Amino acid sequence: MKKLLPLLALSCLLPVGALAQDAVAGKEKVVICGACHGVDGNSTIPQNPILAGQTSRYIYLQLKDFKVKARSNDAGNMTAVLRTIPDEDLEALATYIASLN
Ligand code: HEC
Repeated sequence: MKKLLPLLALSCLLPVGALAQDAVAGKEKVVICGACHGVDGNSTIPQNPILAGQTSRYIYLQLKDFKVKARSNDAGNMTAVLRTIPDEDLEALATYIASLN
C-alpha cells in the first residue's frame, strides 16, 4: 500500500495538468478566429459574421457542421481553420465565444 500512494497521487495530478494545457490551447485558438470575426466577436468585415451574442449551442453546432462539411462554406475559410482544431476543443471555444458581448 505504501508503494501505491505516490502512484495514486501522481494519477490525480495528471488530469489537472492536461486541463490547464487545454485552456491555454483554447485561448490561442480564439486568437485565430479574431482575425476574421474580431477579437471580441464583433466583426467589422461584412463577409465575416458577428459571433458575439450567439449562444454556445448555436456556435458549437455550426463549428461541428463546418468541420464535417455539413454546412458549406464557399470560401472554405471555416473548414480550413477547423482542420487545425481538435473536436474536444470545440465546446470550450463555443462557450468562450458565447461569453462575449
Ligand atoms: C479566414 C477568416 C475566418 C477565420 C479565421 C474564422 N472564420 Fe468563422 N467564418 C468566416 C466566414 C467567411 C463565415 C461565414 C461562412 C458562411 O456562412 O459561408 C464564418 C462563419 C462562422 C460561424 C457561423 C456564424 C453564423 O452566424 O452562422 C461561426 C460560429 C464561426 N465562423 C466561428 C469561428 C471560430 C470559432 C473561428 C476560430 C476557430 C473562426 N470562425 C475563424 C471566416 C472566418
